[in-house]
Amino acid sequence: MAKKSQVRRNEAVESVVRRARPIVHQQAPELQPYGTIARLPNALSEDACAQSAENLNQLLADTITIRDMYKKHHWQVSGPTFYQLHLLYDKHYEEQNELVDKVAERIQLLGAISLAMAADVAETTIIPRPPRGREEVPVQISRLLHAHEVILKEAHTMAGQADDNDDDGTNDLIVSDIIRTNELQVWFLAEHVVDVPMVRAD
Ligand SMILES: [Fe+2]
Repeated sequence: MAKKSQVRRNEAVESVVRRARPIVHQQAPELQPYGTIARLPNALSEDACAQSAENLNQLLADTITIRDMYKKHHWQVSGPTFYQLHLLYDKHYEEQNELVDKVAERIQLLGAISLAMAADVAETTIIPRPPRGREEVPVQISRLLHAHEVILKEAHTMAGQADDNDDDGTNDLIVSDIIRTNELQVWFLAEHVVDVPMVRAD
């Protein structure tokens, strides 16, 4: 008898402990497939949400790419302008990182799914892939300026499309955040590749 009650006690303890144990290696089908719209009561048409989400995912992939290119150059920069460029590249990295979050969350609030993982970003971006190795400062800056121009060109087109679809929030995000930030960063970068005398006037 004593043995049976002991077994019952052990089973009771085991069932309590089982509830406290983390449940790992769980799997289930996706809640929402990529490329679909789960409509929210946001007073926007489904077509408007779909087109804005598609555009914003392109913008997101390119913004993640330029953000990461800034970090690459922040680490790999060399030469007499090392210190100022090391700091400037990281400042622009942080600003692009904020844009990444704003764009990704706008895609989600439109009822769509934002890209997230590096492999998906690499497949989607239209910014040319830089080599793994270190490049000279003028080449780093040229790559960044080209990437900014890619983003600015598509941003102008996408802002117009969002306006046509009455998606004012997307239009505002693209104009106020994406375009203005990228234009300012272009200025700060481009002035570094103006060939002015360093010590003696011409
Ligand atoms: Fe750093």
